[in-house]
Amino acid sequence: MKRRPLSLLSVFAAGVCFAVIVLVAPSKAISHHKYKTSSHEAVPNRYVIEFNYGDSKSADSFVHLFQTKFKNSKIHITERFEHDLFNGISFDLNGLDSKELKAALEAVLDHTHVKAAYPVRIIRRSEVMIEKTVSKRESLSSLPHGMTQVDRVHSELKIFGKGIKVGVIDSGVDYLHPALGGGFGKGFKVQYGYDLVGNEYTGENSPIPGPDPLDSCTVESGASGHGTHVSGIIAGYDAKTNFTGVAPQATLGMWRIFGCKGFAASDVIVKALLMAYDAGMDIISASVGGDDAWSNSPEAIVAQRIAKKGVPFIVSSGNVFYAGDRTAFTVTAPSTSKDVWSIASAENAYYKVNYFNVSSISKRIVCATVSLNLVNGAIFAGDKNVGSKNDACNASTVPDLKGKIALVQRGGCDFIEKSLNVAKAGAIGLVIYNNYGDSIFVPAKFETTIPIIGISAADGLAILAGIKAGTEILTFDPNPHYLPRDNGYLISDFSSIGASNELDLKPNIAGVGGQVFSTLPRYRDNWGFMSGTSMAAPYVSGSIALFIEAKGFKRNNKVISRQFKNYAMKLVHTKGNSVIESPLLQGAGLVQVYDAISGKVSVSPTQISFNDSSSFAKYKTQTLTIHNTGKARAVFKVINEPSIALAPYNRSGQGYAIVGPVGFSNAKAKLIFSKTSVTINSGQKATVRVTVVPPKTNPKDHIIYGGYIRFKTSNHESAIDATVPYFGIVGRQCDLPLFDLNYPYLSDSKGKRFYSKSQTYIYDRSNNATTPSIVYRLLTPTAMFDVDVLNAKTKKSIGKTMTNSFYLNRNSNYGDIFKSNITWDATYVSTELSGTQSEIPVPSGTYILSLRALKLLGNPDDPKDWETFQTSPISVINKINLESDPSYIHVVIYLILLLFI
Ligand SMILES: *[C@@H]1O[C@H](CO)[C@@H](O)[C@H](O)[C@H]1NC(C)=O
Ligand SMILES: *[C@@H]1O[C@H](CO)[C@@H](O)[C@H](O)[C@H]1NC(C)=O
Ligand SMILES: *[C@@H]1O[C@H](CO)[C@@H](O)[C@H](O)[C@H]1NC(C)=O
Ligand SMILES: *[C@@H]1O[C@H](CO)[C@@H](O)[C@H](O)[C@H]1NC(C)=O
Ligand SMILES: *[C@@H]1O[C@H](CO)[C@@H](O)[C@H](O)[C@H]1NC(C)=O
Ligand SMILES: *[C@@H]1O[C@H](CO)[C@@H](O)[C@H](O)[C@H]1NC(C)=O
Repeated sequence: MKRRPLSLLSVFAAGVCFAVIVLVAPSKAISHHKYKTSSHEAVPNRYVIEFNYGDSKSADSFVHLFQTKFKNSKIHITERFEHDLFNGISFDLNGLDSKELKAALEAVLDHTHVKAAYPVRIIRRSEVMIEKTVSKRESLSSLPHGMTQVDRVHSELKIFGKGIKVGVIDSGVDYLHPALGGGFGKGFKVQYGYDLVGNEYTGENSPIPGPDPLDSCTVESGASGHGTHVSGIIAGYDAKTNFTGVAPQATLGMWRIFGCKGFAASDVIVKALLMAYDAGMDIISASVGGDDAWSNSPEAIVAQRIAKKGVPFIVSSGNVFYAGDRTAFTVTAPSTSKDVWSIASAENAYYKVNYFNVSSISKRIVCATVSLNLVNGAIFAGDKNVGSKNDACNASTVPDLKGKIALVQRGGCDFIEKSLNVAKAGAIGLVIYNNYGDSIFVPAKFETTIPIIGISAADGLAILAGIKAGTEILTFDPNPHYLPRDNGYLISDFSSIGASNELDLKPNIAGVGGQVFSTLPRYRDNWGFMSGTSMAAPYVSGSIALFIEAKGFKRNNKVISRQFKNYAMKLVHTKGNSVIESPLLQGAGLVQVYDAISGKVSVSPTQISFNDSSSFAKYKTQTLTIHNTGKARAVFKVINEPSIALAPYNRSGQGYAIVGPVGFSNAKAKLIFSKTSVTINSGQKATVRVTVVPPKTNPKDHIIYGGYIRFKTSNHESAIDATVPYFGIVGRQCDLPLFDLNYPYLSDSKGKRFYSKSQTYIYDRSNNATTPSIVYRLLTPTAMFDVDVLNAKTKKSIGKTMTNSFYLNRNSNYGDIFKSNITWDATYVSTELSGTQSEIPVPSGTYILSLRALKLLGNPDDPKDWETFQTSPISVINKINLESDPSYIHVVIYLILLLFI
């Protein structure tokens, strides 16, 4: 029998599907204090190691030693990080059989230069909603700059981000787009950057780096143009259409981490972050995320270290595209790292349309266009067979259109071909009606010489009927119109919800990420809408560029984030209602750049976590310092403005059902202030102590209350109130059940449930259909998870079935990821011997598997903080020969890929 290579780390099931992935987490084969595994999906056989600081020679001596010792090894270094923020390498380890591989990894971990080792994680391409075709009600969104005061910073302060460097970690950029400067390098808008991966990179193969971060993918590759959209949001500018990014004079850097397809591995991201930092970026913007709310991975660690150096590090908080999975604690790493900005998404408030009239139709017709030179005139059919599937795609079917506006149906060829053909026939404009339904769309193309206008199918057919009956004259209303959207100024329903598992307030602040119009690569028709926290993060990055140009404070993340958070605008929970949205959805609120720049009072800390009931005594009272940096003395009233609360669980059924979308509650905390009014002279500081009285809800409900502390000023020169968000939980997080009702349970290999606790389960090692599994379903994330093998008679542990797993996410509410299972092949790792060791088959006999998982914020040393489950006795019969049948144990963990953005 052929030896199956041991998979030390995560292995992919074949046929990974887009949103859901089956992951085989660490087997028991590595157990070492330096090995930091997690349940996150990972690239097989690829590791990151961090060396002890100051060892610049570490990498080479390490590789040399390694190759001397393991002659068969194919150790291939993928990335080198010779940096004071992270000194290490990532490498692939191939060519070794299972025994050698294990020995090799032990040697790696035992090496004195090695500080820690991690599996390389897979970071999914940001998922965005692309809306080229938009419904009539949600048409071409106006730029959201009125919502965020960016328009005032542009028009009143004349600040456009000049000279501020924003580093973007994304899929490359089509800088040949006219709105993105038309070139790369010195003198261009996109001046810095590097392609770390190449077009063909998928995340699992080797990157082929190059100096040019151009997104040169094709439509056929399926690439969305994410990085180009993000770049346009930050710094795009197009004089022709007046499209203006947040900081149109900022300088961009692009570190490309995605090829045209697939995902990015975390070692590449670490490298990109360090390169952007070294290039002297003033702000780093990353619309990427993993799939958990823990922050223990190398990229999260590096993000944190960069932020600590003072560089604002802006990360999207994560998207949840399935409403049922939109529950508390869905923000994702690395936005969960302390000091990193985790960005929520708010919905754009308006959409922009144009109107025109035609003579025979009494209503105004709504249209979308990026053209500016809208010309009036007679409108004519632009094809001899207008309404065919390929109107105006062939010059031979286009009639004489001299001085006329052409009307054609969408489809058959692209807009540029249609427009060239009708222009050749003398047309002065082109109206394209949709090929179905009631939606209009934005036909955007640069190369056109005549304006192109998109309308709905219904309007197109009505005009066509009019044309057939007589002459129709088209008259444009030259002014654009902005129509309000129903969900404008609300937090987007895909924006993930805090807090972090450690109860840090995340997200921290919101940008506009719902229905954002920006640049797309030329292969994606230049312009379009995308929605996601991916769009909100660059919006905030651009805002910071404006702030830095206005105020300085380069590399002073603390001051910058304080000003932004103090002056963010509180959004409401639902339209037409004054109830404030929870800080767990909006953080401090929507960015208000003008107020952040001009605000003359600062309050810190900028956010408060009152934590949960178990730590109540420690966190219930906090001290706020208010600093009056204005020229005049000011009086502040201190006011509690409670927000809506979250009700994450539904206990009215049979158990702790986690509710998705999350439930809400009106529970409010009272705050007791040491002073309710403070007078502060110019340049002086004052402190106010705040003590929380949580709402009197049942602690079993784990209600997450929140709100804002407002420092209301009446006579202060800037007359803007500063606010500080707070939240807390009624109940103890470590009381939260980890396992859902009726889980875990023992099952055979076919998934058949074994109910009896008194009966013995028979595992015949010669018949793998009898291989037992523990099926579990996590309601709550857990930081530690392991399974002991007990002697059924003595109830004593003989060892573990596997290495401890760390940082598991909770299971999804749906689909394959609804539950997870651990199969046991009747082997164990002894806990009596020290160091790393092999798995050993248990002697024939009867055993019990004892699973335990650490409760949230639990103390690993306190047995009460673990949730446990013991299987029925399992009788293992039939010997096996390990040499010939190494059916290693794996923990199969199904992960939700909430990745984003
Ligand atoms: C572009 O913006 C400028 C300045 O706000 C304005 O004067 C001009 O009319 C705008 N052009 C178009 C085509 O909207
Ligand atoms: C355009 O139509 C003419 C005449 O029917 C035909 O010969 C030609 O092949 C067509 N061209 C294309 C690109 O379809
Ligand atoms: C279009 O028609 C509407 C309704 O008849 C009228 O109010 C409007 O002024 C017209 N606009 C133009 C540009 O003719
Ligand atoms: C909440 O309390 C726990 C337990 O004391 C602590 O580990 C955690 O860091 C606290 N979180 C915050 C944000 O203070
Ligand atoms: C809670 O669960 C009960 C029983 O399953 C159900 O009837 C009720 O609609 C649920 N409530 C919410 C808010 O989901
Ligand atoms: C069980 O063993 C058979 C024969 O070796 C193999 O084909 C099959 O894939 C195994 N099934 C499982 C679930 O491991």
